[in-house]
Amino acid sequence: MKVLGLETSCDETGLAIFDSEQMGSDNQGLVGQVLYSQIELHALYGGVVPELASRDHIRKLVPLLNELLEQCDVKKSEIDAIAYTKGPGLIGALMTGALFGRSLAYGLGIPAIGVHHMEGHLLAPLMGAKPPAFPFVSLLVSGGHTQLIAAHGIGQYEILGESIDDAAGECFDKAAKMLGLPYPGGPNIAKLAENSDQNTYDLPRPMLHRGLDFSFSGMKTAVHNLIKDTDGSDSDPQVRADIAASFQHAMVDTLVKKCVKALKQVSMSRLVIAGGVSANTHLRETLEAELAKINATVHYAPPALCTDNGAMIAYAGFERLQAGQADDLAVSCIPRWPMTELPAV
Ligand code: KG4
Ligand code: ZN
Repeated sequence: MKVLGLETSCDETGLAIFDSEQMGSDNQGLVGQVLYSQIELHALYGGVVPELASRDHIRKLVPLLNELLEQCDVKKSEIDAIAYTKGPGLIGALMTGALFGRSLAYGLGIPAIGVHHMEGHLLAPLMGAKPPAFPFVSLLVSGGHTQLIAAHGIGQYEILGESIDDAAGECFDKAAKMLGLPYPGGPNIAKLAENSDQNTYDLPRPMLHRGLDFSFSGMKTAVHNLIKDTDGSDSDPQVRADIAASFQHAMVDTLVKKCVKALKQVSMSRLVIAGGVSANTHLRETLEAELAKINATVHYAPPALCTDNGAMIAYAGFERLQAGQADDLAVSCIPRWPMTELPAV
């Protein structure tokens, strides 16, 4: 089954073709993907402007689809189904991909399915050669979400803990802004932190001894105060680099300790990390080392499949379509959508 995936929930227009018949081959079923990021469009305003995001998705969807079909050497008539992001996200941005996908599917006489963006992230690591088996604990860390989930199967999700304020990615982005780094903050902090001393400054590890919830707003304040105290944002580059490294270390330390705690709490031995922050090398390496100590394993997708993309939507859509699920002709997007409301497969 060839599934066209469309991702338009925020500021990336991502399209991909997943072909279940090519699973197990070198490309693991991912025939091809294209991604257009609106970062430059929103940079001027210091954050994503929803109306501009929607308008830009509309401009890019048709040319990107044509580019993808050409790249994959696939004709529209060869597509078997379309999966689009139905939520959560910006309502206008979601509507562009959903209406485009639903209409195209109608025109082609094929099924369409609305996919949960975070389920797309969660399942992306399963597209690899040796996918982790259910059940596993999933750490979802993106720009809008930080959640620890016990995943018993597709659509069988139990929230173990989540952030009570900022998301991990959001905290990376805000700390980066304070250090004068551009959006997205995560990769820029990681780059600045290279060759710096992560033990220079002792930043807080919030809520370590309180269950599996997270809180990151205090870390923001701590970075703000540190920059003020050291005058690091615009003076010595080494000071800025050491702040970035110390901040990244505190974030990773907090996430890793909570993951270990979650695995022990539910007696599971596999951890799957997903979402933009899971692209972070320091997080991956620290998890590899710490989980080895408790005989557990960590699984993640290649970096391009950690941040927003169309491939994860195509794959999640495929899993549900092959179980007989599909959406009817009505297009309804859900800007706020708890993953626990998803039907099981
Ligand atoms: O999953 P994603 O692409 O979009 C959302 O669904 O939110 O995640 C974007 C977030 C941003 O906050 C970005 O700074 C963060 O992921 N991110 C990273 C890295 N790459 C992206 N954070 C830390 N290290 C990275 N290498
Ligand atoms: Zn995302």
